[in-house]
Amino acid sequence: MNRLAGKTAVVVGGGQRPGATIGNGRATAVAFAREGAQVLVVDRDLEAAKDTVAQIRAEGGNGHPHTADITRPADCETIPRAATATFGQVDILHNNVGVVVAAGTEATSYDDWERGLSINLTGLWLVCRQFLPLMRAQGHGVVLNISSLAGLLPGANPYSIAKNGVNALTRGLALEYAPHGIRVNAIVPGMIDTPIGVDRVADATGRDRDEIAAARAAQVPMRRQGSAWDIANAAVFLASDEASYITGAVLPVDGGSALHTSTN
Ligand SMILES: NC(=O)c1ccc[n+]([C@@H]2O[C@H](COP(=O)([O-])OP(=O)(O)OC[C@H]3O[C@@H](n4cnc5c(N)ncnc54)[C@H](O)[C@@H]3O)[C@@H](O)[C@H]2O)c1
Repeated sequence: MNRLAGKTAVVVGGGQRPGATIGNGRATAVAFAREGAQVLVVDRDLEAAKDTVAQIRAEGGNGHPHTADITRPADCETIPRAATATFGQVDILHNNVGVVVAAGTEATSYDDWERGLSINLTGLWLVCRQFLPLMRAQGHGVVLNISSLAGLLPGANPYSIAKNGVNALTRGLALEYAPHGIRVNAIVPGMIDTPIGVDRVADATGRDRDEIAAARAAQVPMRRQGSAWDIANAAVFLASDEASYITGAVLPVDGGSALHTSTN
Protein backbone atom coordinates (compact mmCIF):
# COMPACT_ATOMS: atom_id res chain seq x y z
CA MET A 1 0.00 0.00 0.00
CA ASN A 2 0.99 3.62 -0.61
CA ARG A 3 3.80 2.88 -3.03
CA LEU A 4 2.53 5.81 -5.11
CA ALA A 5 1.53 8.11 -2.25
CA GLY A 6 1.62 11.78 -3.21
CA LYS A 7 1.91 11.00 -6.91
CA THR A 8 -0.48 11.84 -9.70
CA ALA A 9 -1.17 9.53 -12.61
CA VAL A 10 -2.93 9.83 -15.95
CA VAL A 11 -4.29 6.58 -17.37
CA VAL A 12 -5.18 7.00 -21.04
CA GLY A 13 -7.64 4.33 -22.11
CA GLY A 14 -8.67 3.87 -18.48
CA GLY A 15 -12.21 2.81 -19.25
CA GLN A 16 -12.90 -0.59 -20.69
CA ARG A 17 -14.85 -2.64 -23.14
CA PRO A 18 -17.75 -4.30 -21.29
CA GLY A 19 -17.21 -7.97 -20.53
CA ALA A 20 -16.89 -10.70 -17.97
CA THR A 21 -13.59 -9.53 -16.45
CA ILE A 22 -11.81 -6.28 -15.63
CA GLY A 23 -9.70 -4.71 -18.39
CA ASN A 24 -6.03 -3.76 -18.22
CA GLY A 25 -6.58 0.01 -18.19
CA ARG A 26 -9.28 -0.04 -15.52
CA ALA A 27 -7.33 -2.43 -13.27
CA THR A 28 -4.24 -0.23 -13.58
CA ALA A 29 -6.14 2.97 -12.74
CA VAL A 30 -7.68 1.24 -9.71
CA ALA A 31 -4.30 -0.20 -8.64
CA PHE A 32 -2.61 3.21 -8.92
CA ALA A 33 -5.33 4.70 -6.70
CA ARG A 34 -5.03 1.85 -4.19
CA GLU A 35 -1.34 2.69 -3.92
CA GLY A 36 -2.16 6.29 -3.06
CA ALA A 37 -1.98 8.06 -6.44
CA GLN A 38 -4.52 10.60 -7.64
CA VAL A 39 -5.69 9.37 -11.02
CA LEU A 40 -7.05 11.15 -14.10
CA VAL A 41 -8.93 8.50 -16.07
CA VAL A 42 -8.98 9.42 -19.76
CA ASP A 43 -11.08 7.66 -22.37
CA ARG A 44 -12.87 8.51 -25.60
CA ASP A 45 -15.87 6.87 -23.93
CA LEU A 46 -16.68 9.21 -21.03
CA GLU A 47 -19.10 6.76 -19.43
CA ALA A 48 -16.40 4.08 -19.36
CA ALA A 49 -14.01 6.55 -17.70
CA LYS A 50 -16.70 7.49 -15.17
CA ASP A 51 -17.27 3.82 -14.31
CA THR A 52 -13.57 3.45 -13.50
CA VAL A 53 -13.64 6.62 -11.39
CA ALA A 54 -16.71 5.31 -9.56
CA GLN A 55 -14.78 2.14 -8.69
CA ILE A 56 -11.80 4.19 -7.46
CA ARG A 57 -14.02 6.45 -5.33
CA ALA A 58 -15.99 3.51 -3.94
CA GLU A 59 -12.69 2.26 -2.52
CA GLY A 60 -11.91 5.68 -1.02
CA GLY A 61 -9.46 6.71 -3.76
CA ASN A 62 -9.11 9.94 -5.69
CA GLY A 63 -10.04 9.77 -9.38
CA HIS A 64 -11.38 12.14 -12.03
CA PRO A 65 -12.73 11.35 -15.51
CA HIS A 66 -11.72 13.13 -18.70
CA THR A 67 -12.78 12.47 -22.26
CA ALA A 68 -10.38 12.57 -25.20
CA ASP A 69 -9.87 10.62 -28.41
CA ILE A 70 -6.12 10.18 -28.84
CA THR A 71 -6.43 10.00 -32.63
CA ARG A 72 -7.31 13.72 -32.50
CA PRO A 73 -4.34 16.01 -31.81
CA ALA A 74 -6.60 18.73 -30.38
CA ASP A 75 -8.06 16.23 -27.89
CA CYS A 76 -4.55 15.18 -26.84
CA GLU A 77 -3.75 18.78 -25.96
CA THR A 78 -6.62 18.82 -23.45
CA ILE A 79 -5.22 15.90 -21.41
CA PRO A 80 -2.23 17.61 -19.72
CA ARG A 81 -4.35 20.73 -19.25
CA ALA A 82 -7.00 18.70 -17.44
CA ALA A 83 -4.36 16.88 -15.39
CA THR A 84 -2.54 19.99 -14.24
CA ALA A 85 -5.81 21.85 -13.58
CA THR A 86 -6.95 18.94 -11.40
CA PHE A 87 -3.69 17.91 -9.73
CA GLY A 88 -1.09 20.62 -10.42
CA GLN A 89 1.49 18.17 -11.77
CA VAL A 90 1.77 14.77 -13.45
CA ASP A 91 4.19 12.13 -12.20
CA ILE A 92 2.97 9.11 -14.18
CA LEU A 93 1.56 8.81 -17.71
CA HIS A 94 0.18 5.37 -18.53
CA ASN A 95 -0.71 4.79 -22.19
CA ASN A 96 -3.13 1.86 -22.35
CA VAL A 97 -5.15 2.51 -25.52
CA GLY A 98 -4.97 -0.31 -28.04
CA VAL A 99 -7.35 -1.74 -30.61
CA VAL A 100 -6.70 -4.94 -32.54
CA VAL A 101 -6.62 -4.32 -36.30
CA ALA A 102 -4.99 -7.46 -37.58
CA ALA A 103 -6.19 -9.05 -40.81
CA GLY A 104 -3.89 -10.41 -43.52
CA THR A 105 -2.21 -8.00 -45.88
CA GLU A 106 -4.66 -8.37 -48.76
CA ALA A 107 -7.65 -8.13 -46.41
CA THR A 108 -6.31 -4.91 -44.89
CA SER A 109 -7.58 -1.73 -46.53
CA TYR A 110 -5.74 1.55 -46.53
CA ASP A 111 -8.28 2.84 -44.00
CA ASP A 112 -7.62 -0.17 -41.74
CA TRP A 113 -3.89 0.52 -41.95
CA GLU A 114 -4.33 4.21 -41.11
CA ARG A 115 -6.73 3.46 -38.25
CA GLY A 116 -4.55 0.72 -36.76
CA LEU A 117 -1.46 2.91 -36.72
CA SER A 118 -3.35 6.02 -35.65
CA ILE A 119 -4.94 4.44 -32.56
CA ASN A 120 -2.09 2.16 -31.51
CA LEU A 121 1.02 4.19 -32.32
CA THR A 122 0.50 7.77 -33.51
CA GLY A 123 -2.02 8.50 -30.74
CA LEU A 124 0.39 7.23 -28.10
CA TRP A 125 3.14 9.42 -29.59
CA LEU A 126 0.80 12.44 -29.62
CA VAL A 127 -0.02 11.96 -25.94
CA CYS A 128 3.65 11.51 -24.99
CA ARG A 129 4.55 14.63 -26.94
CA GLN A 130 2.03 16.61 -24.87
CA PHE A 131 3.38 15.42 -21.51
CA LEU A 132 7.14 15.31 -22.08
CA PRO A 133 7.71 19.10 -21.98
CA LEU A 134 5.80 19.25 -18.70
CA MET A 135 7.80 16.37 -17.21
CA ARG A 136 11.07 17.84 -18.50
CA ALA A 137 10.26 21.19 -16.87
CA GLN A 138 9.54 19.53 -13.51
CA GLY A 139 12.64 17.35 -13.85
CA HIS A 140 10.94 14.00 -13.35
CA GLY A 141 8.26 11.71 -14.74
CA VAL A 142 7.37 8.15 -15.63
CA VAL A 143 5.85 7.04 -18.91
CA LEU A 144 4.44 3.54 -19.27
CA ASN A 145 3.32 2.20 -22.64
CA ILE A 146 1.18 -0.88 -23.09
CA SER A 147 2.52 -2.95 -25.94
CA SER A 148 1.63 -6.52 -26.93
CA LEU A 149 3.25 -9.84 -27.72
CA ALA A 150 2.41 -8.83 -31.29
CA GLY A 151 5.08 -6.16 -30.84
CA LEU A 152 7.78 -8.78 -30.29
CA LEU A 153 6.84 -11.05 -33.17
CA PRO A 154 6.78 -10.73 -36.93
CA GLY A 155 3.46 -9.60 -38.32
CA ALA A 156 2.60 -7.40 -41.29
CA ASN A 157 -0.78 -6.25 -39.94
CA PRO A 158 -1.34 -2.74 -38.52
CA TYR A 159 -1.58 -3.95 -34.90
CA SER A 160 1.76 -5.79 -35.01
CA ILE A 161 3.51 -2.99 -36.83
CA ALA A 162 2.12 -0.42 -34.39
CA LYS A 163 3.10 -2.44 -31.31
CA ASN A 164 6.62 -3.02 -32.72
CA GLY A 165 6.62 0.76 -33.09
CA VAL A 166 5.50 1.23 -29.47
CA ASN A 167 8.51 -0.80 -28.33
CA ALA A 168 10.88 1.19 -30.54
CA LEU A 169 9.34 4.47 -29.41
CA THR A 170 9.65 3.40 -25.77
CA ARG A 171 13.37 2.71 -26.09
CA GLY A 172 13.98 5.85 -28.13
CA LEU A 173 12.14 8.11 -25.69
CA ALA A 174 13.88 6.43 -22.75
CA LEU A 175 17.26 7.30 -24.25
CA GLU A 176 16.26 10.83 -25.23
CA TYR A 177 14.70 11.75 -21.89
CA ALA A 178 16.91 9.86 -19.42
CA PRO A 179 19.05 12.99 -18.82
CA HIS A 180 15.87 14.83 -17.82
CA GLY A 181 14.87 12.39 -15.09
CA ILE A 182 12.09 10.83 -17.13
CA ARG A 183 11.81 7.04 -17.27
CA VAL A 184 9.98 5.37 -20.16
CA ASN A 185 9.11 1.67 -20.09
CA ALA A 186 6.74 -0.68 -21.90
CA ILE A 187 4.72 -3.61 -20.60
CA VAL A 188 4.04 -6.47 -23.00
CA PRO A 189 0.84 -8.29 -22.05
CA GLY A 190 0.53 -11.85 -23.27
CA MET A 191 -2.69 -13.85 -23.09
CA ILE A 192 -4.66 -11.80 -20.57
CA ASP A 193 -8.21 -12.73 -19.60
CA THR A 194 -9.81 -9.40 -20.45
CA PRO A 195 -12.82 -8.37 -22.57
CA ILE A 196 -10.51 -7.15 -25.35
CA GLY A 197 -8.66 -10.47 -25.24
CA VAL A 198 -11.55 -12.94 -24.94
CA ASP A 199 -15.04 -11.37 -25.23
CA ARG A 200 -14.01 -9.49 -28.39
CA VAL A 201 -13.20 -12.81 -30.08
CA ALA A 202 -16.40 -14.42 -28.77
CA ASP A 203 -18.47 -11.53 -30.12
CA ALA A 204 -16.73 -11.62 -33.51
CA THR A 205 -16.89 -15.38 -34.00
CA GLY A 206 -19.93 -16.49 -32.00
CA ARG A 207 -17.71 -19.04 -30.21
CA ASP A 208 -18.16 -19.76 -26.53
CA ARG A 209 -16.17 -17.53 -24.16
CA ASP A 210 -14.93 -20.43 -22.01
CA GLU A 211 -13.78 -22.32 -25.07
CA ILE A 212 -11.79 -19.30 -26.28
CA ALA A 213 -10.31 -18.79 -22.81
CA ALA A 214 -9.23 -22.43 -22.63
CA ALA A 215 -7.66 -22.30 -26.09
CA ARG A 216 -5.72 -19.16 -25.14
CA ALA A 217 -4.55 -20.72 -21.87
CA ALA A 218 -3.32 -23.82 -23.69
CA GLN A 219 -0.98 -21.69 -25.82
CA VAL A 220 0.83 -20.28 -22.78
CA PRO A 221 3.89 -22.09 -21.33
CA MET A 222 2.36 -21.59 -17.84
CA ARG A 223 -0.90 -23.09 -19.23
CA ARG A 224 -3.06 -20.25 -17.94
CA GLN A 225 -4.07 -16.75 -18.95
CA GLY A 226 -2.97 -13.79 -16.89
CA SER A 227 -5.39 -11.28 -15.42
CA ALA A 228 -5.51 -7.52 -15.78
CA TRP A 229 -4.16 -7.34 -12.22
CA ASP A 230 -0.90 -8.91 -13.44
CA ILE A 231 -0.55 -5.97 -15.83
CA ALA A 232 -1.57 -3.50 -13.12
CA ASN A 233 0.96 -4.92 -10.66
CA ALA A 234 3.77 -4.53 -13.19
CA ALA A 235 2.61 -0.98 -13.89
CA VAL A 236 2.59 -0.10 -10.18
CA PHE A 237 6.14 -1.40 -9.82
CA LEU A 238 7.46 0.41 -12.91
CA ALA A 239 5.67 3.62 -11.88
CA SER A 240 7.03 3.49 -8.33
CA ASP A 241 10.38 4.66 -7.00
CA GLU A 242 11.31 0.97 -6.61
CA ALA A 243 11.99 1.08 -10.36
CA SER A 244 13.94 4.35 -10.23
CA TYR A 245 16.91 2.89 -12.19
CA ILE A 246 14.80 1.12 -14.83
CA THR A 247 14.22 2.82 -18.16
CA GLY A 248 13.87 1.56 -21.73
CA ALA A 249 12.63 -1.83 -20.54
CA VAL A 250 10.12 -3.76 -22.64
CA LEU A 251 8.77 -6.14 -20.02
CA PRO A 252 6.77 -9.22 -20.99
CA VAL A 253 3.99 -10.11 -18.52
CA ASP A 254 2.97 -13.23 -20.34
CA GLY A 255 3.50 -16.51 -18.46
CA GLY A 256 6.43 -17.25 -20.76
CA SER A 257 4.64 -16.77 -24.07
CA ALA A 258 7.39 -14.64 -25.61
CA LEU A 259 9.93 -17.42 -24.90
CA HIS A 260 7.65 -20.08 -26.29
CA THR A 261 6.78 -18.28 -29.50
CA SER A 262 10.39 -17.32 -30.21
CA THR A 263 11.65 -20.89 -29.97
CA ASN A 264 8.92 -22.62 -31.97
N1 LIG B 1 -5.98 -8.43 -23.05
C1 LIG B 1 -5.02 -8.94 -23.74
O1 LIG B 1 -4.98 -10.14 -23.88
C2 LIG B 1 -3.97 -8.03 -24.35
C3 LIG B 1 -2.87 -8.62 -24.94
C4 LIG B 1 -1.91 -7.81 -25.49
C5 LIG B 1 -2.03 -6.44 -25.42
N2 LIG B 1 -3.09 -5.87 -24.84
C6 LIG B 1 -3.16 -4.41 -24.80
O2 LIG B 1 -3.86 -3.95 -23.65
C7 LIG B 1 -4.44 -2.68 -23.93
C8 LIG B 1 -5.93 -2.63 -23.70
O3 LIG B 1 -6.33 -3.42 -22.65
P1 LIG B 1 -7.76 -3.20 -21.94
O4 LIG B 1 -8.07 -4.52 -21.36
O5 LIG B 1 -7.71 -2.02 -21.04
O6 LIG B 1 -8.72 -2.88 -23.22
P2 LIG B 1 -10.15 -2.22 -23.31
O7 LIG B 1 -10.49 -2.21 -24.76
O8 LIG B 1 -11.11 -2.88 -22.38
O9 LIG B 1 -9.97 -0.72 -22.82
C9 LIG B 1 -9.31 0.23 -23.60
C10 LIG B 1 -10.01 1.56 -23.48
O10 LIG B 1 -9.42 2.42 -24.46
C11 LIG B 1 -10.43 3.26 -24.97
N3 LIG B 1 -10.04 3.77 -26.29
C12 LIG B 1 -10.02 3.12 -27.46
N4 LIG B 1 -9.63 3.94 -28.44
C13 LIG B 1 -9.41 5.13 -27.87
C14 LIG B 1 -9.00 6.40 -28.37
N5 LIG B 1 -8.77 6.57 -29.68
N6 LIG B 1 -8.84 7.43 -27.51
C15 LIG B 1 -9.11 7.25 -26.19
N7 LIG B 1 -9.52 6.09 -25.66
C16 LIG B 1 -9.66 5.04 -26.49
C17 LIG B 1 -11.67 2.39 -25.04
O11 LIG B 1 -12.85 3.16 -25.05
C18 LIG B 1 -11.52 1.51 -23.80
O12 LIG B 1 -12.26 2.00 -22.72
C19 LIG B 1 -4.18 -2.39 -25.40
O13 LIG B 1 -3.04 -1.57 -25.56
C20 LIG B 1 -3.92 -3.78 -25.95
O14 LIG B 1 -3.18 -3.74 -27.16
C21 LIG B 1 -4.08 -6.65 -24.32
